[in-house]
Amino acid sequence: MRPTVHLRPYRPSDRGAVYDICVRTGAAGQDARGHYLSDELLPDIYAGPYLELESALAFVLDEGGRAVGYVLGTADTPSFVEAWRARWLPRVAERYPRPVEPAGTANERLIATLHHPEWMLAPELVPYPAHLHVDLLPHVQGAGFGRRLVETFLAAAAAAGAPSVHLGTANSNTRALRFYERLGFQRLTVAGTEGTTYFWHPTTTRP
Ligand SMILES: CC(C)(COP(=O)(O)OP(=O)(O)OC[C@H]1O[C@@H](n2cnc3c(N)ncnc32)[C@H](O)[C@@H]1OP(=O)(O)O)[C@@H](O)C(=O)NCCC(=O)NCCS
Repeated sequence: MRPTVHLRPYRPSDRGAVYDICVRTGAAGQDARGHYLSDELLPDIYAGPYLELESALAFVLDEGGRAVGYVLGTADTPSFVEAWRARWLPRVAERYPRPVEPAGTANERLIATLHHPEWMLAPELVPYPAHLHVDLLPHVQGAGFGRRLVETFLAAAAAAGAPSVHLGTANSNTRALRFYERLGFQRLTVAGTEGTTYFWHPTTTRP
């Protein structure tokens, strides 16, 4: 019998499972294990800072006690960027020294992202202060859990005072593009971000 699956708030014991999901879905939705110098590099950018700094806005899909999907993010991107620089970067900077820029390799470009959280502050995104990441392991995709995770995040971000959320996804991740459009996300144009499609959505439909 398959274990039951339900959504619940993140807890610290989920950290390893969340890191694993992040790397297994990190190549435009496909498995990114072995793509970078460490399988922890992607999660150290796209999961770890959120779990450390914004754990109240992290939720997991629990299958028999193990996280098999998650949504995480922040209600206030500018404050999050400050906390990333002050409290997250010092924890990981020794493991990922700042590369000589402009970064040349894929590893260097990712590590530069880690060292420049301010790159999240594009002027076009200012009206949408929250942002999120959602990822599910393949065997639980396509069953409505992605929608439920995003809706859970939107409600939590609204409760935290954010009127709207933005996110970015690789143009090559056609499945995610269709998913966000189906959920009513609207496209945004952000200068200098070729290769990524940005979307926004209000956190609540109530007036
Ligand atoms: C993208 C992802 C989060 C979507 O979650 P999911 O659980 O598979 O999607 P759901 O089953 O909740 O689908 C929600 C809605 O989107 C629609 N949808 C999902 N994928 C679609 C597609 N490729 N084309 C058209 N509609 C799609 C569903 O039909 C559903 O519509 P409905 O709720 O009106 O019936 C999930 O597939 C995933 O984690 N993929 C790998 C990691 C990834 O790409 N993450 C996003 C990175 S930005």
